[in-house]
Amino acid sequence: MKNSLASRLFLVYLKKKLCYHNQYLSYGGIVLGKLVLYFSEFGNTESIAKRIAEKTGADICKIEPIEPYPENLQEVMEIGQNETDNETMRPIKQLEVDLSKYDKVILGMPTWWYHAPPCVESFLKNAALERITVFVTDSGIPLNVDDEMKRISPNTYVESSEIIEFTPLVEPSRLVTPLEEIDAWIETL
Ligand SMILES: Cc1cc2nc3c(=O)[nH]c(=O)nc-3n(C[C@H](O)[C@H](O)[C@H](O)COP(=O)(O)O)c2cc1C
Repeated sequence: MKNSLASRLFLVYLKKKLCYHNQYLSYGGIVLGKLVLYFSEFGNTESIAKRIAEKTGADICKIEPIEPYPENLQEVMEIGQNETDNETMRPIKQLEVDLSKYDKVILGMPTWWYHAPPCVESFLKNAALERITVFVTDSGIPLNVDDEMKRISPNTYVESSEIIEFTPLVEPSRLVTPLEEIDAWIETL
């Protein structure tokens, strides 16, 4: 009797200790982790997504439209404007990850005409996550994360967000936001 009480207390102690030291372990002992999920047409958002995954050890997965966009920037700009103006949700491929395995989802997206791209809207509407961490790339006029999340998925709590600026896409895009600022945010994840 004494032994079983002692071992139960020890187990509770052990679980609390593990949770304190390793946020990936839940009280039930189920291993949960971090996931970087991103949409990127021209590579900027992807470069940040990969950096986050490398630095945090998170899994990484790309959101992809079933019907790809053309390669030409001008064409994508026009289609994107049409879709965002009409609040179109572009159908996406099934994700290659099981979201229930993750206790932190870090969602990355470019700004498209001051909004989230239609692929991201499709993901958010279907996933209906309880909470999310968001990073956004842009070329000077970013979307407003809180307004967009309220519009698309009002019940999803935004834990943290970061806006990352690049130079315009007309020539090879360079990072404008200091890398140290981005890394300091990644440290908090
Ligand atoms: C369709 C489209 C719309 C865009 N709209 C905006 C915008 O409203 N504000 C802005 O600052 N940048 C805008 N951009 C620029 C992108 O947000 C920026 O270059 C982003 O980093 C591209 O990410 P990616 O390389 O991961 O696709 C737009 C780009 C595209 C293709």
